[in-house]
Amino acid sequence: MLLGCVLFAVVGAVPVNVMMPLDVLNDDGSINNPTQLQGWLKQLAGAGVHGVMQDVWWGYTEPCAKGYNFTAYKNLFNMVQSAGLKVAAVASFHQCGGNVGDACNIPLPSWVVSSASQHSGVWYTDVHGNQDKEYVSLFVDSQSYLCGRTPLQAYQDWLSAFSFAMGNWMGSLIEEVQVGLGPCGELRYPSYQLAHWSFCGIGGMQCYGPDALSNLEAAATAYGHPEWGHAGPNNCGDYDSTPDNTGFWTGGGDNYQSPYGQFFLSWYSNQLYAHGKNVLTRAKAVLPSSVTVAAKVAGLHWWEKHPSHAAECTAGYNVVNGNNMYQMFATMFDQLGVIFDFTCLEMTDYSQPSNCDCGPQELVSETEQAAWNAGAGYAGENALNFYDSGGYSQVESVSSGLRAFTYLRLGSDLMSGGNWSNFANFVQAMRYKN
Ligand SMILES: *[C@@H]1O[C@H](CO)[C@@H](O)[C@H](O)[C@H]1NC(C)=O
Ligand SMILES: *[C@@H]1O[C@H](CO)[C@@H](O)[C@H](O)[C@H]1NC(C)=O
Repeated sequence: MLLGCVLFAVVGAVPVNVMMPLDVLNDDGSINNPTQLQGWLKQLAGAGVHGVMQDVWWGYTEPCAKGYNFTAYKNLFNMVQSAGLKVAAVASFHQCGGNVGDACNIPLPSWVVSSASQHSGVWYTDVHGNQDKEYVSLFVDSQSYLCGRTPLQAYQDWLSAFSFAMGNWMGSLIEEVQVGLGPCGELRYPSYQLAHWSFCGIGGMQCYGPDALSNLEAAATAYGHPEWGHAGPNNCGDYDSTPDNTGFWTGGGDNYQSPYGQFFLSWYSNQLYAHGKNVLTRAKAVLPSSVTVAAKVAGLHWWEKHPSHAAECTAGYNVVNGNNMYQMFATMFDQLGVIFDFTCLEMTDYSQPSNCDCGPQELVSETEQAAWNAGAGYAGENALNFYDSGGYSQVESVSSGLRAFTYLRLGSDLMSGGNWSNFANFVQAMRYKN
């Protein structure tokens, strides 16, 4: 009986990881304030934290095409190991900078950026012609635009090189690789770029680069409606619109429920789905089976309770007209043996502005349910910094069955006083979860 209880506590525990600070490395690759970091890591380990999550930036690690340098991360992981913590590495194929909380500026490798001068389709482009340089457009996934390689090949080569460089740390110290699939590492379009958008606008379609438009044209022609192949919907508003001041996201006429609307949203989301599947398939092929592979889905909680789900749709999540993108992702992740990572676990509906139809709690339970239905593992993060016990109780309340929780983010605010004791209590509570 006693043994049974002990086993239950161990098996049921939800491991807590902590996201490393964005400025953990200096530009020259040295560790920023190593004495302080070492102290923090030991303090975390002492409180029962399982490991850290660390972005491994493409822009730092592949300075020349196929010329990799992981030295800075090896030094960092050595320190993590000495503290007795594990590593979840993020293959960060996106830029650091330009999103909420981004206290950093790490663009994509310069050889990727310069390839866009010959092939403008490398960047996602909106209806106004604005290019987004956070992540290579999925519409060029199979084009040999990156110094003769396709983006899919470049991601695969990078993952192989990372795995090789980390050697027998893979599957021991480094337990997990979260594969970057879009801006912020999330499987989504950059539909709500801070340069053009403010909360809670519906966001903008990103299908106006040349490769995206030729893809759309081919799909529309194949569907028997070539006239649908020239652009996205012309009545879907702009980044900061609300659904109700557009034609497309409201009822009647040429809206999201019309034959055209259904065609467009299916095409747009199917491209995103295929991108996720293609990158993850390659990741699984080159990473050792002892490493858990994870994929992150964005928490688009604004307009979640509006019938149009406009913000989810512009990011590529087709959850209208009877479609359930979260279920499709979960099923695909399960088939590939990939963990479903979701965010905004700390958020409550009532803490959001009342005029944005926000439903973070509904989204968390919907995605948890989708993962459960598919049999895929589900892990969580918080979306925004918090230190209060209310945020921790909300996370605890949705944590049954969670594979792991990653707290964002490590920094001096977290490590002392009441902020620290709230966190330490939370880590203990999560050990006796499920
Ligand atoms: C690799 O990176 C390290 C640390 O960032 C740096 O000191 C070293 O010079 C780099 N090596 C090469 C060959 O560029
Ligand atoms: C706790 O966090 C808050 C931010 O929510 C910060 O202002 C405060 O300085 C932190 N306390 C300590 C002791 O660092």
